[in-house]
Amino acid sequence: MNLDLAYRSLVLKVAHSPQVEALIRRRARGLVRRYVAGESLEEALRAAERLEGEGVHAILDLLGEMVADEAQARAFQEGILELVRALGEKPWPRYVSLKLTQLGLDLSEGLALSLLRGILAEAEPRGVFVRIDMEDSPRVEATLRVYKALRAEGFEGVGIVLQSYLYRTEKDLLDLLPLRPNLRLVKGAYREPKEVAFQDKRLIDAQLLHLTKLALHEGLYVAVATHDPRMIGEVKRHAEALGIPKDRFEFQLLYGVRPEEQRRLAREGYTVRAYVPYGTHWYPYLSRRIAERPENLFLVLRSLLGG
Ligand code: FDA
Repeated sequence: MNLDLAYRSLVLKVAHSPQVEALIRRRARGLVRRYVAGESLEEALRAAERLEGEGVHAILDLLGEMVADEAQARAFQEGILELVRALGEKPWPRYVSLKLTQLGLDLSEGLALSLLRGILAEAEPRGVFVRIDMEDSPRVEATLRVYKALRAEGFEGVGIVLQSYLYRTEKDLLDLLPLRPNLRLVKGAYREPKEVAFQDKRLIDAQLLHLTKLALHEGLYVAVATHDPRMIGEVKRHAEALGIPKDRFEFQLLYGVRPEEQRRLAREGYTVRAYVPYGTHWYPYLSRRIAERPENLFLVLRSLLGG
């Protein structure tokens, strides 16, 4: 395993400790503010409005995952519906992301499917696009099944995510082709064993580029979600060389990460969306951001030592 992956794996493991969580919840406020738009829907909508002013569109995400019971899953559905209804009033592109474990996938696939169906039934008439985030590898199969089931029911305004670190992903992409999916392609943010995922960052990067080219070549609409300047440059060059117009793909980045690059890409005429998370359940999201970037761990350690 190389150093990047070893670091990420360690952070995600340590982050599970309740003591570490309690400490970070108390002391990492600065980092939370950087990555999370706020705890309320109003704060998230204000952040989205600011981004719109800069030419960057927002993907709103009510933070939550791995619920413990059905009541919690239903409460998250209610929160997402509130978001969908609020977005329906806005003049900007309307877009939300959610996680199936937030809607009870681990309790029952049928529950997650029916709660998501309820969300799509309200989102589609309001022109709100719904992206199903992809979670860790044991949940990929069920997530794809739910997505396919909803597409078979006729829902169009729903998209899926594929992760380049998984060996299975190219086959998943090819299997999805007949559905003409709206894809988000990412490297992958979870701790995955070598039995299912590439461990070498160079291979994960190369695979992201390969999958992006494949999806574009197949005529899919692709959201390339990365902060990696090399990857962004390669995608731009590839699209230009093949005459693929700018309305066939877009770049997605996280709120608070490389904001100047987000604005620059928008000025260059690319569609850019920032993933804007909000809510009180920010801890797992923040852990993944710390795992992606060692500098974030130093910020946490500094705030812990700072008293
Ligand atoms: P990489 O990690 O190689 O970083 C490249 C450079 O980007 C770094 O050198 C640094 O400069 C900058 N950078 C990266 N992460 C940073 C951070 N946290 N803070 C500051 N700078 C950072 N994953 C998943 O498994 N399922 C999903 O559904 C999604 N969805 C998703 C949506 C969107 C909009 C984005 C941007 C990302 C995701 N991801 C995701 C996360 C993704 O899998 C991946 O973990 C992160 O994007 C980090 O990888 P990069 O491609 O940015 O490159």
